Amino acid sequence: MKQYVLAVLTLALCVGGVEMVSTVNRGRARVEGKQLLPGRDNWDFVGHALKSDLTTLVLALKQRNTDDLTQLFWSVSDPLSARYGKFLSLEEVKEIVQPHPQDIKDIMVWLHHYNVDSCSLIETRDFLKCRVTVGVAEQLLETNFGYFQHSVQKDNVIIRATQEYTVPKRIASKLDFIGGVHRLPNVESKLKIKQTMPLPDDLSAFRYGVHPDTLRKRYNVSDNVATNANNSQATAQFLKQFYSAGDLTKFMSHFGKGFPHLNKISHEVGPNSGKAGLEANLDVQYIMSLGANVSTTFWSTGGLNKGQEPFLEWLLDLSNTSQIPHIFSVSYGDHERTLSAEFMNRINLEFQKIGVRGVSVLFASGDDGAGCHRFEDESYTFEPDFPSSSPFVTTVGGTMFTAVFSDVNEKGNDISGGGFSNIFSMPKYQMETVSGYLNSSVKGLPDSKYYNSSNRAYPDVSAMSDDFWIIIDRLLMNVAGTSAATPTVAGLIALANDARLNAGKPVLGFLNPFIYQNPDIFFDVTLGPPSSACWLDDLEGYPLSEGWDPVTGFGTPDYHRLVAAAMKY
Ligand SMILES: *[C@@H]1O[C@H](CO)[C@@H](O)[C@H](O)[C@H]1NC(C)=O
Ligand SMILES: *[C@@H]1O[C@H](CO)[C@@H](O)[C@H](O)[C@H]1NC(C)=O
Ligand SMILES: *[C@@H]1O[C@H](CO)[C@@H](O)[C@H](O)[C@H]1NC(C)=O
Ligand SMILES: *[C@@H]1O[C@H](CO)[C@@H](O)[C@H](O)[C@H]1NC(C)=O
Ligand SMILES: *[C@@H]1O[C@H](CO)[C@@H](O)[C@H](O)[C@H]1NC(C)=O
Ligand SMILES: *[C@@H]1O[C@H](CO)[C@@H](O)[C@H](O)[C@H]1NC(C)=O
Repeated sequence: MKQYVLAVLTLALCVGGVEMVSTVNRGRARVEGKQLLPGRDNWDFVGHALKSDLTTLVLALKQRNTDDLTQLFWSVSDPLSARYGKFLSLEEVKEIVQPHPQDIKDIMVWLHHYNVDSCSLIETRDFLKCRVTVGVAEQLLETNFGYFQHSVQKDNVIIRATQEYTVPKRIASKLDFIGGVHRLPNVESKLKIKQTMPLPDDLSAFRYGVHPDTLRKRYNVSDNVATNANNSQATAQFLKQFYSAGDLTKFMSHFGKGFPHLNKISHEVGPNSGKAGLEANLDVQYIMSLGANVSTTFWSTGGLNKGQEPFLEWLLDLSNTSQIPHIFSVSYGDHERTLSAEFMNRINLEFQKIGVRGVSVLFASGDDGAGCHRFEDESYTFEPDFPSSSPFVTTVGGTMFTAVFSDVNEKGNDISGGGFSNIFSMPKYQMETVSGYLNSSVKGLPDSKYYNSSNRAYPDVSAMSDDFWIIIDRLLMNVAGTSAATPTVAGLIALANDARLNAGKPVLGFLNPFIYQNPDIFFDVTLGPPSSACWLDDLEGYPLSEGWDPVTGFGTPDYHRLVAAAMKY
């Protein structure tokens, strides 16, 4: 008997993220089944947190009627549905999903018992954000908190639990997860800097690399810009990624000669101060060059205050704001493997809450190709990322020109993130397309043991992702990554929305059913090497093919065909 108990209490520790499996005290329960503790991905434990330190806990309260939400999400997003484009207001979303008042009350009573009263609910009442001291958080969750410092960005220090967390059983059943306890933000930009040089006086003879005119020419946009005053687009930024208004103005004066455009961000949400960030400057410079003359919001969750999860913060903001931009371009992701299913499923519901309101959310597919994860026993597998693997967002992969001085033919970029989720089953909208790829005579499909081909496949579309010129700190810099492709596609979608708004139609909203029903919008990208994977083991990722493939999706957008298709419905 004694031995049995000991065995059950043994902690199972895995390297590369410390995953704990242990028994839970009677009367208490885990909220998330799989808890991957901090102490990975360049975050080092540097000491126990002071009991008096303040930290933020975000309680994700279980929503009601999520099946209704999902059904509405699909019907307003499917061009073939009678409800297409009949989007909901934030108030209507709240009426569907808000938790039962008694559940909210029970949670408040539990918190009140520990004298926690600095909590606020968001508009949809399904997230509760509380500022608490570390001492109180440790009692609430029966765990300990420590400081974790980023090994490169040393001024980034955050508070996270060093052990698994539990709550009373009756509370666990009312929550999806608690934010601010374990997950560590992904702070390093994946963008690759290829070259930096002083800004030349005259850029008119500038032919090499990608700038707005290159993209406008390639995607047949020429000098078309938006004209509807109700149009809008946004980039979401996390973790001290700020943009420089001065760099934006300079960029437009050098590279925006060929098309009418705005020189300034129209709205800023959250802080924007400090050093200009690569990602933020790239996003605003390119979304405003393709989605030119569209009112643009810089949506920032700003600083990394101790204890915050910036990605979560952004989602909370969206469900706490009644008017939000029609499009978000986002470059942010984590390995699926490092996140709990409870967390990802809830984030998927958040994407549905946004989509049902008519907002298009585009995520960069990632810059590691099919990805590579090595197990302890030296075997390996592909590594899908989330949210790029979410069935409820549009995922954007990357291409490049076939030759340095070509500006017409594209090939796949082997770093373009893509593949199959290990968690989410394949959504209906892509079943036929993806089985077409898997059944085809494509040569060199990787061994099926490395991926789960019955699941959500990504990316959906792509755009150029290499040799982008940006201006940062008054210097000219050449960068690469799928985070360049994402604002490019987002800006083009904003132009398609513009045509619809001018015709009195609603915007496109969640794009994927529309995209998969209109594959001929895109220039099919069929050339190029397979995506990268486990190069140490000579394992390649996915090959390109005619039509959709898990490197470039359907390919890159043609402005004329995109707008024509958008106007059909
Ligand atoms: C939601 O917005 C209201 C104001 O509209 C604000 O008082 C409240 O603090 C916000 N809640 C959160 C969690 O940010
Ligand atoms: C669109 O772009 C393709 C490839 O660049 C080009 O062949 C075609 O002529 C363009 N069509 C229009 C209408 O501009
Ligand atoms: C830019 O958009 C505004 C509406 O927001 C419109 O009035 C104006 O004509 C547009 N400019 C150009 C050059 O089309
Ligand atoms: C903008 O939206 C408002 C409110 O829906 C509408 O009354 C107005 O006509 C729209 N303006 C344009 C230019 O579409
Ligand atoms: C593939 O994913 C599905 C979930 O969609 C799961 O049920 C199934 O067990 C997975 N297959 C393998 C071989 O892991
Ligand atoms: C692909 O093959 C599967 C199984 O053989 C079949 O069910 C499916 O219909 C095929 N899909 C296409 C598009 O040919």
